[in-house]
Amino acid sequence: MIFTVANQKGGVGKTTFLINFAYYLKDFKNKSVLVIDTDTQANCSYSLSNANNIGNAYSLFIEDVDILAAKILETEIRKDEINLFKSTIDLSNEDELDTPINYMQNLKYLYTLFDCILIDTAPVLSKKLIYSLQFSDYVITPIELEIYSLQGLSLMLNTIFNIKKNVNKNMSFLGVLPSRVITTNKRQSRNLDKLYAEYGQELFLPFIRYRNDLANASANQVSFFKTNSKHKKELINVFDTIYAKM
Ligand SMILES: Nc1ncnc2c1ncn2[C@@H]1O[C@H](COP(=O)(O)OP(=O)(O)O)[C@@H](O)[C@H]1O
Ligand SMILES: [Mg+2]
Repeated sequence: MIFTVANQKGGVGKTTFLINFAYYLKDFKNKSVLVIDTDTQANCSYSLSNANNIGNAYSLFIEDVDILAAKILETEIRKDEINLFKSTIDLSNEDELDTPINYMQNLKYLYTLFDCILIDTAPVLSKKLIYSLQFSDYVITPIELEIYSLQGLSLMLNTIFNIKKNVNKNMSFLGVLPSRVITTNKRQSRNLDKLYAEYGQELFLPFIRYRNDLANASANQVSFFKTNSKHKKELINVFDTIYAKM
């Protein structure tokens, strides 16, 4: 399956979600996992520095599937590690991405090799994001319960549901995932209530709390689940809910 994390707003927890969900799928669900980092900020590639690096994400957009297949033949795919197509600065060349044909064929090919392909995206409504949504089985939208993040939500959801309606009927939108939630913060609680009232609570997944241990694990380039944080079960519960919807 192909899974995209999408929100054109930055700093809402996309990368943190994706990294930890990748570890969850590998370690708790025994899946072979590929992560594609399409964000030039390369935060995901940084935190997954121990992953099995099998190529550059940019090449998936511009190279022919025969080239990818030839490269993969010479590469060791790992089931005990996360496999990674890392971000490089050439991902900023949107001009060369006029057609999604190479990306589509490359993803189709990779689909045959991995149980789970997770795509991290940049905080911008780019062609890379649109193409990723076009070929995804599952999409999730992390948000922060702060006004700037809420303001962009309807644009993101409209984009996702338009693609679902017109291009990718197979896509399943798993929900909006409030992240970095501080439960004692009244403004955030009010914002969550407003969102439930406006969109319906069914659209929302259980939230991920603000936990310093999560930011630490990403900064230290280790799996949160391998740390001695006492909040691991909390995150596993959220992931179990998401996994049950897939
Ligand atoms: N649940 C969380 N608890 C604490 N810090 C978090 C949490 N989620 C994300 N962060 C931190 O917030 C910042 C932005 O998160 P990030 O995942 O990079 O967002 P995005 O990919 O949407 O830009 C990072 O410094 C990250 O470590
Ligand atoms: Mg990110």
